[in-house]
Amino acid sequence: QQPILPYDEIGAEKLHLLVDTFYGNVAKHPLLIPIFPNDLSETARKQKQFLTQYLGGPNLYTEEHGHPMMKMRHNPFPITPERAQAWLSCMRDAMDTVGLEGKSRDTFYRRLELTANHMVNQTSHEE
Ligand code: HEM
Repeated sequence: QQPILPYDEIGAEKLHLLVDTFYGNVAKHPLLIPIFPNDLSETARKQKQFLTQYLGGPNLYTEEHGHPMMKMRHNPFPITPERAQAWLSCMRDAMDTVGLEGKSRDTFYRRLELTANHMVNQTSHEE
């Protein structure tokens, strides 16, 4: 008996909907707009690949882009604690919108909180 992967529990369809909804929220968030590109379609495509493997699915991100090194890939962007909270609030709202609930939501969200806090690389917005 194999353990059920979070990726299988959530399913590719809902994960893709979550990511598209999430970047729709990012595009409207005043703290996040300044650091993201105007066209978020390529960002969303990479995030779908990344979260697929983050949740135990196929290693789509690594196959195309190599080792994730997420902290390093975020170095060019000023990520304050406020921006980490903004990112997480966009994710919570997206989870509400797509109806991701229960244990799979809770464990996924808690991991994202840890990852988001780890991405912080600046303490204030003085750039
Ligand atoms: C890329 C911001 C947290 C995964 C990016 C980009 C920005 C950004 C500005 C570049 C977008 C682009 O040029 O396409 C932030 C901020 C965060 C955050 C402000 C707040 C803490 C996270 C977390 C994850 C994540 C928690 C994963 C769980 C990614 C991925 C990419 C990305 C996969 C694409 C990397 C690539 O170009 O290959 N992020 N991010 N980010 N972020 Fe974040």
